[in-house]
Amino acid sequence: MSITINGNPVDLPGDPRVSLLDLLREDLHLTGTKKGCNQGACGACTVLVDGERILSCLALAVQYEGREVTTIEGLGTTGDLHPLQRAFVEHDGFQCGYCTPGQICSAIGMAAEIGRGVPSHVTGDLAATTIALSHDELRERMSGNLCRCGAHNGIVDAIFETFGEGELQAEAAE
Ligand code: FES
Ligand code: FES
Repeated sequence: MSITINGNPVDLPGDPRVSLLDLLREDLHLTGTKKGCNQGACGACTVLVDGERILSCLALAVQYEGREVTTIEGLGTTGDLHPLQRAFVEHDGFQCGYCTPGQICSAIGMAAEIGRGVPSHVTGDLAATTIALSHDELRERMSGNLCRCGAHNGIVDAIFETFGEGELQAEAAE
């Protein structure tokens, strides 16, 4: 039984009770993914599975056999940051940085969702195939990722700059 993490096959734990978050942090020492509440309320543990965002604290590692997990370590490196990481730096999108990996993974998953035309609570036309990334959409869709430092304004600016309206509409229309 294995799982792919940042492109590398990894053996799943023998204990089926191990969460994906604990596999990442405790077994693999991929500590970029953070443990905040450990109960699905803060978003600090968000990772991507086959491109979709999930809360790794609520996921059992064994559930993801054969799937591809991407953590913050798989998105960019110190010398080669992901464009969204660069935007977070430029817009002061963090203070302590604890929520940042989750914010970034979540925003990438969010952009893919909106690109696929998945509606949110604030989407006016539920039948629309193209959804613009307005500030209301962005705030609603990122509301599961909390920042205790209150860096939300910079976070919103960084995400908006990276995944602005035009780009997402073009993606949805493909
Ligand atoms: Fe998973 Fe808070 S640690 S949602
Ligand atoms: Fe400190 Fe968000 S930057 S919790």
